[in-house]
Order: sequence, then C-alpha cells, then structure tokens
Amino acid sequence: MEEIPILGLGTWKLWCTCHKKPLVKTACTRSLKALKLDYLDLYLMHWPMGFKSGEADLPMDHNGMIIPSNTDFLDTWEAMENLVATGLVRAIGVSNFNHEQLERILNKPNLRFKPVTNQIECHPYLTQKNLISFCQSRNVSVTAYLPLGGCSGGMHLMEDPTIQTIAQKHRKSAAQILIRFQIQRNVRVIPKSVNPKRILENFQVFDFELSEEDMTDLLGLDRNLRLATFPITENHKDYPFRTEF
Ligand SMILES: NC(=O)c1ccc[n+]([C@@H]2O[C@H](COP(=O)([O-])OP(=O)(O)OC[C@H]3O[C@@H](n4cnc5c(N)ncnc54)[C@H](OP(=O)(O)O)[C@@H]3O)[C@@H](O)[C@H]2O)c1
Repeated sequence: MEEIPILGLGTWKLWCTCHKKPLVKTACTRSLKALKLDYLDLYLMHWPMGFKSGEADLPMDHNGMIIPSNTDFLDTWEAMENLVATGLVRAIGVSNFNHEQLERILNKPNLRFKPVTNQIECHPYLTQKNLISFCQSRNVSVTAYLPLGGCSGGMHLMEDPTIQTIAQKHRKSAAQILIRFQIQRNVRVIPKSVNPKRILENFQVFDFELSEEDMTDLLGLDRNLRLATFPITENHKDYPFRTEF
C-alpha cells in the first residue's frame, strides 16, 4: 500500500528553557524533525515562565526552586509569530496564562498573530469561570486540559457522587459527562487515554445533552482545586497562579 505522507499534524508546545528568541525556532524545528512533519497546526507557549536554558528541562537552585531566564514572554511571542510567518506552524497559542498575562499579549504593540487558544486546567473542581469569560470575550478559545481530573493518582473526579448521578441519568460514563460539560461551555477539551475502548467512548458525546440543571450542578462543584500547580516555579516573576484568574 502506498504510504500517505503526513505533512502537518496536531499541537506541540514550546518548553520554558527555550524562551530566548533565537531558541524558539531551534526548538520548533527540532520538534518537527522528531515528529517527521513539515509543519505544526498549532504551537503553544507551554507556560508564561522562561527558565535558564541549557541541559536541564528543570534547572534548579540549591533550594530546589527553578532558575528563571531573563526573558519576557512578549519577546518569546514575537519569535513564535515568526514561525507562523515562515510557515513552520499554522497557528500559535498559549497555555497556563492568567488573564493579565493574556491581556499583555493581546495589547502588545504591532501584534501580528493573536493567540488562538489558552490551554488551561479545567474540570468541575476548577471551573475557571472568570478566565473562560475573559478569553471568550477577547475571541481567544479555551482548551481544557486534565478534563477528567488526570490519572488515578489525581483527584478522583470521576467518582464524585454528583457526576455519578448525572452519568446514571443519561446512561453515560462519568468521563463522557465531563467531556460534554466542556463542549456545552464552548470549551475545547482534550481527554487523554491510551486505551482504544476508552478513546472511542470519549468521542461518543454528541448524542445527548446535559440540562441546565445538570450544568448548574457541575459548576456548583467548583472548589478552586488545581492539580497542575507547578510549585517549584512559585519563585518565578511570571508564576501564573498568584492572581485570582
Ligand atoms: N498545558 C499543560 O500544561 C498540560 C498539563 C497537563 C496535561 N496536559 C494535556 O492534557 C491532556 C489530558 O491530560 P491528562 O492525561 O493528564 O488528564 P485527563 O485526560 O484528565 O485524564 C487522563 C486519565 O483518565 C483516564 N481515562 C481517559 N478516558 C477515560 C474513560 N473514558 N474512563 C475512565 N478513565 C479514562 C486515562 O487512563 P487510560 O489512559 O488508562 O484510559 C488517564 O489515566 C493531555 O493531552 C496532556 O498533554 C496539558
């Protein structure tokens, strides 16, 4: 059978040790080479925080805290804009940005490409109501990561009695309720599974609808519980979780 060449696919992220302008293109082309692709559909700045570049992905000081770089994410964004201009990526976005950080990019003088999405942790225990309203009001889509509450070591979201009750009512799984919850909020959702049966199950979310009452109950579970807190970076000037949203 003839092999169909894959030219571009999916989303990839720029890691924090590559925030210096000249390193952005190097990191992107390295990823394209590893992925055997000509371009990426979407490239995200993984965090607003730049780390010291070098061998280690997580350069740490003697207190076990991150060593920042002296970069500004607006400069990193400019280098990412160049990737779009030269055709290496189709679109660019951000991840783990709070509303002030996103606003800084949107207000940047001579902005050439705005972020198409902000990929953030989002599920009923961290509903992100304010940040989602902010992003949507600025026409930046939101992508929910950890939508199922992560793996079994996580927050056991799928066992929550409210979610279980709603799942039984619709004859759906807890995972399907959590995915549908985001779709009905106009939030993109990226559940992850390595199990083919569950991957299929996670797509079967377009044949039912959560009621307004279901949505209110799910939103009512919010307890501002964040899994991806990244504590070793709390010393960083651009640590995103100090502000309310
Ligand atoms: N931007 C960021 O900083 C950031 C941070 C974290 C994660 N992410 C991204 O977010 C995506 C999802 O994150 P995640 O994997 O950490 O969390 P997740 O999707 O919330 O949870 C994944 C866990 O749920 C299980 N699962 C999946 N479907 C299921 C189903 N139908 N029923 C029961 N269990 C199910 C998986 O197990 P099985 O595999 O065994 O099915 C896995 O243990 C990934 O693409 C990840 O790269 C982004």
